[in-house]
Amino acid sequence: MTAPILPPTDANITIAVEILHAGGLVAMPTETVYGLACDAANPEAVAKLYAAKGRPSFNPLIAHVLDLATASKIGHMSHTALKLAARGWPGPLTLVLPLLDAGKVCDLARAGLKSIAVRQTAHPVAQQLLNRFTQPLVAPSANPSGKISPTTADHVAADMGDKIDLILDGGPCAVGVESTIISCLTEPPTLLRPGAFVAASYAATTQDEAQPLAPGALSRHYAPNATLRLNALSPVEGDAYLAFGPFEAYPDQLHMNLSTTGNLTEAAANMFAMLRALDTVATRIAVAPIPRVGLGLAINDRLARAAKRD
Ligand code: TXA
Ligand code: MG
Repeated sequence: MTAPILPPTDANITIAVEILHAGGLVAMPTETVYGLACDAANPEAVAKLYAAKGRPSFNPLIAHVLDLATASKIGHMSHTALKLAARGWPGPLTLVLPLLDAGKVCDLARAGLKSIAVRQTAHPVAQQLLNRFTQPLVAPSANPSGKISPTTADHVAADMGDKIDLILDGGPCAVGVESTIISCLTEPPTLLRPGAFVAASYAATTQDEAQPLAPGALSRHYAPNATLRLNALSPVEGDAYLAFGPFEAYPDQLHMNLSTTGNLTEAAANMFAMLRALDTVATRIAVAPIPRVGLGLAINDRLARAAKRD
């Protein structure tokens, strides 16, 4: 059976909470991408979630919390962590903290780690769900492992509809790329995954791919079926083109534009949906160069992973 897509009315949030209490899987909108949520304390529910995603279970999940008080109970918030949280929460920021309370987020959800990734999202639907459920929800992006992250309820339905219980429809995600992940296990903190939260105060280290700091930062990720050619100033024949900024297509040129005005925020919000759309009609996608500044770092990071073939 395919999961129903329901608007986030009070009555439907009640249904979602009942499903979560029963160990089920609910897709919920966040401002970054759609997440696939389950009860963080329930190992059977987490096992079901890993199975639905086809995710290697050594890859830990992010605990979504209603507020800072809850975050501080499950992870140790250092002075630096508190400063980052003050700037980035609620919002597209995940902090990796030393674990304090293993009871609220089960071992399987943390892949046995002594640290915990915590996020307070600003999305009103996710907040309502957390408020009514009252406990942390773990939620990876609601896509099969290694595939393109979902930014609409329809994306979730297409990829995961037959494996989950309910999809709450909160419309398209405003940010469009996953949260910035910063590890507070080091001092200064370390950037593990670039995203929409940009801070000057962490060390921007390059990750050792053999030993990724965010275990899920596997090099190949967000994979479309089409091959991707990055930093392409123009398409060659047979390419679909993903443009950025002013672009004049030749007749019959298959193309989409991340942002005709060259706006990185708009480009991030469009990226996954446009990759999906072009992937259904083309076997080769050429992508325009995207400036490597601010949110452009996150966009280039996701595109590089999507382009990787090994
Ligand atoms: O925007 C987002 O972050 C979305 C929404 C749904 O919140 N979630 C998301 O989750 O992108 P996911 O599971 O697709 O990516 C979470 C990343 C993984 O790369 C995982 O390895 C890393 O967070 N992570 C989780 N716990 C960690 C920990 N204790 N230490 C280091 N990295 C961790
Ligand atoms: Mg993901």
